[in-house]
Amino acid sequence: MSTKPAPIGIFDSGYGGLTVFRDIRAKLPQYDYIYLGDNARAPYGPRDFDTIYHYTVECVRHLFDMGCQLVVLACNTASAKALRTIQQQDLPKIAPDRRVLGVIRPTTEIVGDFSKTKHVGVLATRGTVVSQSYVIEIEKFFPEIKVFQQACPMWVPLVENNEHESEGADYFVKKYLGELLAQSSQIDTVVLGCTHYPLLEKKIKQYLPPSVLLLSQGEIVAKSLSEYLHRHPEIEDVCSKGGSVEYYTTESAEDFDRKAAIFLGHELRSNHLALST
Ligand code: DGL
Repeated sequence: MSTKPAPIGIFDSGYGGLTVFRDIRAKLPQYDYIYLGDNARAPYGPRDFDTIYHYTVECVRHLFDMGCQLVVLACNTASAKALRTIQQQDLPKIAPDRRVLGVIRPTTEIVGDFSKTKHVGVLATRGTVVSQSYVIEIEKFFPEIKVFQQACPMWVPLVENNEHESEGADYFVKKYLGELLAQSSQIDTVVLGCTHYPLLEKKIKQYLPPSVLLLSQGEIVAKSLSEYLHRHPEIEDVCSKGGSVEYYTTESAEDFDRKAAIFLGHELRSNHLALST
């Protein structure tokens, strides 16, 4: 039985995944996409493993129900806490021919190419930090690198509430960067290990020493997805090509339209997705 080509699913706990989606769409404009933000339950960062896994798998199933054959978890927290279980336990049972990819692997594969001091900082949610995913993955590719992690629990709420350009944001940007840099004076590369954080990039750059390179994931993930599709023609064949985008949110569609338009720089019309739990 042949599979009907369908849009690529992009998932995040909220708006953050839009920073990755923007770059994916710029690099791969020919495909159709469905973006799903679980805004009703964001932030995921402070939640426990089981909760993040259940929320993520539920959203992935919704994207599968909409036909998606390939889903990108454009969320570090979901990639850290749920991706492996979905790939190893759920997919073989519920959808053996479909694929779910994350954002941590593409980032850790290349981070060592940027650091000269071999001291790398990772800014992420508490969930991602506690999972140690960045430490474990970077160790696989670049065992000589020392990773220093800093959880930034206030940053996602600032972004989700559209306060990322406020004075309050300055306080929390300075605070977490200070705590990261206090761990090592040799950090020369800092990874924005949460897809919400590029919205704070201007302020982060303002408070980071100019010699420190700030890496955000959008272009890295877009390039990695493009290479993946090239290596896997059987998946590429089932990604439909019409250049369309549909947006879904588990919160109010009007709210999503207003805030997502600020992030993307253009108007859009989203749909509300009702959760069963
Ligand atoms: N954007 C997400 C990430 O990359 C999750 C933020 C959250 O919901 O806490 O980690």
